[in-house]
Amino acid sequence: MDNIDLKGRDFLKLLDYTPQEINYLLDLSAALKAMKKAGQSTAWFTGRNVALIFEKTSTRTRCAFEVAAHDLGMGSTYLDPTGSQIGRKESVADTARVLAGMYEGIEYRGFGQKIVEELAQYADVPVWNGLTNEFHPTQMLADMLTIRECFGSEKGAHVTFYGDCRYNTANSLMVAGAKTGMHITLCAHPEYFPGEELTAQCRAIAEESGGSITFQTDPMKAAVGADVIYTDVWVSMGEPDEVWAKRIEDLAPYRVTRQIMDTAGEKAVFMHCLPAFHDKNTGIGREICGKFGLTEMEVTDEVFESSRSVVFREAENRMHTIKAVMAATLGIPDGAVR
Ligand code: CP
Ligand code: NVA
Repeated sequence: MDNIDLKGRDFLKLLDYTPQEINYLLDLSAALKAMKKAGQSTAWFTGRNVALIFEKTSTRTRCAFEVAAHDLGMGSTYLDPTGSQIGRKESVADTARVLAGMYEGIEYRGFGQKIVEELAQYADVPVWNGLTNEFHPTQMLADMLTIRECFGSEKGAHVTFYGDCRYNTANSLMVAGAKTGMHITLCAHPEYFPGEELTAQCRAIAEESGGSITFQTDPMKAAVGADVIYTDVWVSMGEPDEVWAKRIEDLAPYRVTRQIMDTAGEKAVFMHCLPAFHDKNTGIGREICGKFGLTEMEVTDEVFESSRSVVFREAENRMHTIKAVMAATLGIPDGAVR
């Protein structure tokens, strides 16, 4: 493992991390995954505790933090979207100082990136971003680990993302690609491309890493040469129901279909951060079907359920990568991981 020390650092967005540090976190994730599979203990932080603030709901991120904390020997407290005073009765700055007095680390999932940045400013323990409107950095570590497992390396991988390219997952994918030398193509209706400032920043970083950022509006052209076809929900948590009609109209041509997978070629895999709307087996899926007659949204059920879909491996990797982020920023004992 590289000689990199992340003890005491926050994990708020990948822009704050060097390519070497990201590489270290991915190597560490793979090592922790192997240790878990071999039944080896990683309970290095017995007696410590972490606070998990979720102002938006979650399955993967919450479970990943809880299981990883447990595997590291720590206790965890889950604060649900209504279960704390944060933002309503108590400021972010006050909450940060209260929690930092009791916990060795704080995870935050919620709305604006500036909230998690403020939390980190006032908490003198590591703060980890479990998703904001702008970024989803722990998701990217899981995605890059999955790409490594599928193709040997994330560097040089061609990843095409379809759908809402302005939100957390696509923004973070663009940053991850720029940092690690991936070729990222964002494919959408032109209204859904990321902001100019972040794009320019990522393109400058990509020049150093050998990666690239490309925008495309033609779904078939975007698929050519892709190793990974990636999508996310068309309407994200916290957005109002009123946006559905326009979103469906604008993004329906960007649904991931078998034709897109076939155009990408035989070796291409399908990825999705999840949860996904690929059938009518969810409350929202049924509601949208009732209103708009759609039985699948950002991805067809056929692609989602196909052998090329690696979404559940990707979901499992959330836990190993989140464990790496917590362990590295809390300070792994010398010699504990080889
Ligand atoms: N991918 C992801 O963040 O899933 P959850 O919303 O279930 O945490
Ligand atoms: N863009 C999605 C990601 C969910 C993991 C959302 O914010 O709801």
